[in-house]
Amino acid sequence: MSESSLSNLLKEERRFAPPADLAAHANVTAAAYEQAKADRLGFWAEQARRLSWGTEPTETLDWSNPPFAKWFKDGKLNVAYNCVDRHVEAGHGDRVAINFEGEPGDTRTLTYADLQREVSQAANALTELGVEAGDRVAIYMPMIPETAVAMLACARIGAPHSVVFGGFSADALATRIEDADARVVITSDGGYRKGAPSALKPAVDEALTRPGTEKVRSVLVVRRTGQEDISWTEGRDVWWHEIVGRQSERHTPQDFDAEHPLFILYTSGTTGKPKGILHTTGGYLTQVAYTHHAVFDLKPESDVFWCTADVGWVTGHSYIVYGPLANGATEVLYEGTPDSPHKGRWWEIVQKYGVTILYTAPTAIRACMKWGDDIPAKFDLSSLRILGSVGEPINPEAWMWYRHHIGADRTPVVDTWWQTETGGIMISPLPGVTETKPGSAQVPLPGIAATVVDDEAQEVSNGSGGYLVLTEPWPSMLRTIWGDDQRFLDTYWSRFPDKYFAGDGAKKDDDGDVWLLGRVDDVMLVSGHNISTTEVESALVSHPKVAEAAVVGATDPQTTQAICAFVILRGGAEEDDALVDELRNHVAKQLGPIAKPKRILPVAELPKTRSGKIMRRLLRDVAENRTLGDTQTLTDSSVMDLIQSKLPSAP
Ligand code: WT7
Repeated sequence: MSESSLSNLLKEERRFAPPADLAAHANVTAAAYEQAKADRLGFWAEQARRLSWGTEPTETLDWSNPPFAKWFKDGKLNVAYNCVDRHVEAGHGDRVAINFEGEPGDTRTLTYADLQREVSQAANALTELGVEAGDRVAIYMPMIPETAVAMLACARIGAPHSVVFGGFSADALATRIEDADARVVITSDGGYRKGAPSALKPAVDEALTRPGTEKVRSVLVVRRTGQEDISWTEGRDVWWHEIVGRQSERHTPQDFDAEHPLFILYTSGTTGKPKGILHTTGGYLTQVAYTHHAVFDLKPESDVFWCTADVGWVTGHSYIVYGPLANGATEVLYEGTPDSPHKGRWWEIVQKYGVTILYTAPTAIRACMKWGDDIPAKFDLSSLRILGSVGEPINPEAWMWYRHHIGADRTPVVDTWWQTETGGIMISPLPGVTETKPGSAQVPLPGIAATVVDDEAQEVSNGSGGYLVLTEPWPSMLRTIWGDDQRFLDTYWSRFPDKYFAGDGAKKDDDGDVWLLGRVDDVMLVSGHNISTTEVESALVSHPKVAEAAVVGATDPQTTQAICAFVILRGGAEEDDALVDELRNHVAKQLGPIAKPKRILPVAELPKTRSGKIMRRLLRDVAENRTLGDTQTLTDSSVMDLIQSKLPSAP
């Protein structure tokens, strides 16, 4: 970035105090910030006591070889015992752990006692297949209960899992199997997606023909769709119900070192081969359990928690499987898409299960805005008491829509910033403490040290922008990139000395609250000003006719970069030159003339990654009339053809 700070254009004045009754009974109060500030390690040592340890740790943090952290290193514990058995032993065996809702409408209820039996059987089955502590297991599954059971079974026997999102291709799966050197793959015949069965097993078969995957000796297959034409490799493929079904329902969990690897999860990032992010046992479980308790104010006896993410992403690992189950929560697991068979499906699920805490992503919220306010209005959403957001900056207007149309203006909205690498939530309001601001993640959680620095690594003053950094180690931090310590150092620890570089632009407002501005690569340079794509997008979405916007900087001879916006209009809006002018002027009025887009192009869809993030890189290619770069991670590659066909040739 050429200037020391990002522009700070958007002014947001709206404030929402926590509801009084929530604040009065909140799990975590303002005192936690003070306590953690006075003794950060003491604070985390106390949070670690939420878990049941076979051997209690005596040392909290070993930071003698930074940035390679060891948390609670002389402690020993079993993750599956913590997520399952201990709740049964405490008398909660009959409590529902998972309310499963299949896309076709089939349901299953698993209590903690059911989960204990199934996880034990699966652990016994993996052992029969020769899986030992330390062996890697790849999991390529739809969103069904067996996915959580498989992860917990791996954790139970100390075999690190590598979950690969079920929407990824055979090639992506093969690369990840090879990098992790997995010996067993757990998959299913398929799952239900948009009203029809969608096969998964063929992608595994194809992946296992690729060089580098020869060491996979078993493929464990869950029967979900029951399609008949499944191909079978004798001696390698095993039906889950056959091998798991005949195992003993008892399995004695063994304790593992706090630093024993729990899982590898690949993040693609913008360049290079996927990075295998390594998470370990004690620190990870401590932070996901604490943050789930604090940020969502979870009351395990009465709440029904629903995180809509896919288990293939870190959000699903931390806030479907490990955090909620460590806390003994009752949760919803939904297999399908929000619009199958109708656009009110999510709200129907909230109503049916009495969901009290909903955790989802801005991309989903914006899709619901586009579909119309009348859809959620048809359902009883009065059980909801806390709404969460994660994955991207949430535009203030999307935040307001979420609070108003889903939360009936009652529920706090917690915008949670974190990453695959951080393992758990890092920056977020606390629902019983923080006066929230639409669009801001606001404050580092108790025990977390984050700030915004300029190019010279100096902390910026309030009202200025720069780069988000984490200045102290945290329990659920990644330990390295699997097999590549050097890349771990280069990617995260070399930009600023002794600080973790998150790769996100951010600013501090006049109160010192943090606003995330998107990936650093997504900041534009216009006539000497750094302007964040996020702020221009939020200004566009604040116009009543715009549902969603993606903004890129296109090379421009006069201004270095010119702002080019792609917008999806709300149902009913007519696209014409007058509207485009109106939108350009609207942005100028909101943010100032410097941020007025040079071009605005109404489109039907935006290119998204499979985790729902807008791929601005491809839009930049379009805006600069280049051949498109790699479109492999796109959900739907036809979207780009559509956009290009609309584009008048370059001005
Ligand atoms: C990147 C991490 C964290 C689980 C899902 C994504 C962006 C995430 C927010 C937020 C603004 C956010 C950042 C971050 N991001 N949450 N609340 N506000 N930006 O995990 O795929 O590892 O992506 O997502 O850019 O660096 P991930």
